[in-house]
Amino acid sequence: MRVFVTGTAGFIGFHMARRLLAEGHDVTGVDGMTDYYDVGLKRARRDILMAHEAYNDHELMLEDADGLGTAAESARPDAIVHLAAQAGVRYSLENPRAYVDSNLVGTFNLMEAARRLGVGQFLLASTSSVYGADEPVPFVETVPADHPLTLYAASKKACEAMTHSYSHLWNIPTTVARFFTVYGPWGRPDMALGKFVEAILADRPIDLFNRGDMQRDFTYVDDLVEGLVRLMAAVPEQGRPVDALDSLSPVAPWRVVNIGRGRPVPLMDFVAAIERALGRTAKLNLLPMQPGDSPTTFASADLLHALTGYRPATPVDVGVAAYCAWYKSYYGQG
Ligand SMILES: NC(=O)c1ccc[n+]([C@@H]2O[C@H](COP(=O)([O-])OP(=O)(O)OC[C@H]3O[C@@H](n4cnc5c(N)ncnc54)[C@H](O)[C@@H]3O)[C@@H](O)[C@H]2O)c1
Repeated sequence: MRVFVTGTAGFIGFHMARRLLAEGHDVTGVDGMTDYYDVGLKRARRDILMAHEAYNDHELMLEDADGLGTAAESARPDAIVHLAAQAGVRYSLENPRAYVDSNLVGTFNLMEAARRLGVGQFLLASTSSVYGADEPVPFVETVPADHPLTLYAASKKACEAMTHSYSHLWNIPTTVARFFTVYGPWGRPDMALGKFVEAILADRPIDLFNRGDMQRDFTYVDDLVEGLVRLMAAVPEQGRPVDALDSLSPVAPWRVVNIGRGRPVPLMDFVAAIERALGRTAKLNLLPMQPGDSPTTFASADLLHALTGYRPATPVDVGVAAYCAWYKSYYGQG
């Protein structure tokens, strides 16, 4: 299969591309190498991919419609996996325009390329943040999720809606995957795990918002990639829901699927797992809740399971230990 993956120098795109290459697929990757976090880490991920013969790289921004279209045309992809985005909940309060440019304009440009090429499947990375303040938990895909709390969430919800319209108009089979707090080796330095490990090793306190009274449905990156690969084989067909809980659109070959473990972990337990992995005690800086944050994320993994027979299962202790081992070797703090 020929797969066009965006965001391949990013955390998840790198893992996804590596997995596809290992399975013998041809991968064309696109990444604009934005400086939202350490570009050196992005280069290091990209170097690993570029060592692979079946990997073809394009450094360009999604906003460059012509460049993106040309790259996609030369790749002649069977499937597009769209992972590039301006990510991060908190940064969307500081620099909202980046979310409009990368997520709205960028996704539109990619959809246009997909329409012209008539791809067999379009996979879009979305986020648990779209559930906003929704209740009850666990979050199921059939709830409207119409109350985003940040522009990050709003931009992803808009991308979901945009892909629905293209799926309907141009018959593009589309799976929207909502990711739940993904972590693991090569992870992002701006996310809690990266910040906590860096601070604990430097003997600095870690910031715990809402005084640590939060829980997250942490998903290990290999589990997430497993879910994505399996979803690539579960191409949506209009009018053929898998069960009564299917989010399949009545008017398009389009559905949304959570990828999460379905087992939220209290933040303090996550910190304890890091302490065990590092053999150090964290100093805590207890802070109030941040605007736009959700106290809980909790995925229903039932639809993913119904479609693919798979549920993410890596325990947090195992995943955190793998991240800490990678961190020490990558940053030379072994
Ligand atoms: N990591 C998580 O916990 C998580 C949770 C929910 C959703 N997601 C989504 O998963 C996807 C991948 O996230 P990640 O954690 O790998 O983030 P990441 O920031 O590591 O990767 C995104 C990549 O996209 C590139 N990029 C950003 N804007 C671009 C643009 N306009 N043009 C070209 N390239 C651009 C960046 O350079 C980066 O390498 C994103 O869509 C994100 O919103 C991630």
